[in-house]
Amino acid sequence: MEDFSFNEDLNEMVLEAKKYSKYGSVADYIPALGEANPETLSIAIYRGKGDCIAAGGIYEKFTLQSISKVITLAVALMDHGEDYVFSKVGMEPTGDPFNSIAKLETNIPSKPLNPMINAGALAVTNMIIGQSIDEKLGRILGLIHEMTSNSEITFCERVAKSELDTAFLNRSLCYFMKQHGVIQSSVEDLLDLYTKQCAIQVDCTDLAKLGYVIANEGRNPETGRQVIPLHITRIIKTFMVTCGMYNSSGEFAIRVGIPAKSGVSGAIMGSLPHGLGIGIYGPALDDRGNSVAGMKLLESLSSRYNLSIF
Ligand code: DON
Repeated sequence: MEDFSFNEDLNEMVLEAKKYSKYGSVADYIPALGEANPETLSIAIYRGKGDCIAAGGIYEKFTLQSISKVITLAVALMDHGEDYVFSKVGMEPTGDPFNSIAKLETNIPSKPLNPMINAGALAVTNMIIGQSIDEKLGRILGLIHEMTSNSEITFCERVAKSELDTAFLNRSLCYFMKQHGVIQSSVEDLLDLYTKQCAIQVDCTDLAKLGYVIANEGRNPETGRQVIPLHITRIIKTFMVTCGMYNSSGEFAIRVGIPAKSGVSGAIMGSLPHGLGIGIYGPALDDRGNSVAGMKLLESLSSRYNLSIF
């Protein structure tokens, strides 16, 4: 990796990558996400203690969506350890869309293939310890506060409700898994928690800081606290490489080579080991649910500054 000082180029790279947003469209299966401006593109790059550069509309807030799956996986692994978590959810990538139900039926015994697809993430959220939905959500937010040093981060009620009202596919994944003993609790309570975790709202700087702590082996550089154990950040980064961009993960690893996780809000979090945290927001998505302009921006950054880990 070069010792980069990409201040001036960053604005130009954003303007260049932004042109690709016309090839995507905003997610509308969650109605509230359909209101986003498809032409937006912003990025923050964080390199530890106060060292953050950014370009685009960086104060704009957006929801984590699937990026929250990385955080809940960390919480579940801290709550239960690897043996229990991976007895309920697998470690293998799928070539299927993020919300596919197909492999749940063909895999015997039924077990979601990994924690990044919706079925696996729902099974992971179901494991989080707490007496109530509020307590469990508070624990997820608590970790996010510790990682970002920003205790103002919370969830957007409107986006959570919009998803809960229309989450028919996720409801069917949950009922299927309940039938097969992957989850035991109330499906409606689980969906309530899951839609709230997905609706956690951040800006690009918060997202870059989340990515940085994972890159930095679980330590928050501002507080010096080890907020996630090292071995868990290793598991998370590996899932980000193999499954983070769903059925584009292979191509993304070749073209970009940075562990990353996308969300249907158009967000992408990148974690370059020992180096950088990256937060991107560009809501126009390709047909696999990844930000088109966001991926283009990461591709140009990676090639310009030689960032691939491979
Ligand atoms: O469960 C869902 O469908 C959404 N809340 C999250 C999916 C998602 O972000 C997929 N990412 N690209």
